[in-house]
Amino acid sequence: MSELQGKVAIITGGASGMGKAASILFAERGAHVVVADLNVKGGEEVAAEAGKSGNACVFQRTDVSNEDDVKVLVARAVKEFGGLDITFNNAGIGGAVGPLEGISVEDWDKTQAVCLRGVFLGIKHSVAPMRARGGGAIVNTASIAGVWGYPMLHAYSAAKAGVVNLTRSAALEFAADGIRVNCIAPGGVATPIVGAFGGNKETVEKMLAAGQPVPRAGQPEDIAHAALYLAGPHAGFVTGHTLVVDGGAVSGPAGAYRRPGDPRGGAQQQRFAGPSFEQG
Ligand SMILES: NC(=O)c1ccc[n+]([C@@H]2O[C@H](COP(=O)([O-])OP(=O)(O)OC[C@H]3O[C@@H](n4cnc5c(N)ncnc54)[C@H](O)[C@@H]3O)[C@@H](O)[C@H]2O)c1
Repeated sequence: MSELQGKVAIITGGASGMGKAASILFAERGAHVVVADLNVKGGEEVAAEAGKSGNACVFQRTDVSNEDDVKVLVARAVKEFGGLDITFNNAGIGGAVGPLEGISVEDWDKTQAVCLRGVFLGIKHSVAPMRARGGGAIVNTASIAGVWGYPMLHAYSAAKAGVVNLTRSAALEFAADGIRVNCIAPGGVATPIVGAFGGNKETVEKMLAAGQPVPRAGQPEDIAHAALYLAGPHAGFVTGHTLVVDGGAVSGPAGAYRRPGDPRGGAQQQRFAGPSFEQG
């Protein structure tokens, strides 16, 4: 399948995790990818790996919170490959972590700058070249932390909720240009960003698997395939949408039902819950 044959895509945060998986998948499905990241070594390696698909891919060092960098990034895609069809605004950091009263204004602003301003700039500078091509697709990475509150991640939760609603407002504005704007809200996915909070990959995967109904950690490829769908031709009537990819985490409390014998324990199903006055 080559859903993205001949398309030109920018993927931010492309040096690692979900962005890396998406860069390789998009290239395999026919796209020329401009991998954008602060991490030069990682980004160059991913561009080289994605290029093995036979579709030329390049790396552009980019700080997504810096408007000049984002302008240069978009110009690189146009110069290198003749236009722009897809932007995956995916770069992110955990940012300020911990109790709200301990968060400095500087750390708050830094978190918003990367996680929210970065998405704003990615949209702002992508739409002109997409319009020139007669349309395009923008996919943003939000988080389930932007759909519900998340303890000790106040700045991140606020930024990701901002991404969800910026996606909607941008979708309304650019639908008439043929530009669709959607976002993905990943749940717990085993990438270095989670490892940064402590633990090795195995410990992190175990921890994530315990916290969501689907009894495994999310993998970067789960998100890459969601991004491929939203960026590709099969999502032509989908815009302003938040696609939650979380193993069921926000469908309800993970421990509310577990099959008998589930090693994670938790509540099991009753046969019938009748009138409460009949229950002993
Ligand atoms: N892993 C999870 O459980 C999870 C859950 C929900 C949402 N997310 C979001 O998914 C996205 C991808 O994260 P990931 O899990 O793949 O983590 P990751 O750390 O593996 O990848 C994030 C990438 O973004 C890059 N980056 C950070 N700041 C940047 C900046 N200012 N400019 C350019 N690049 C920058 C990093 O260098 C890194 O390569 C992020 O937006 C993150 O917030 C992750």
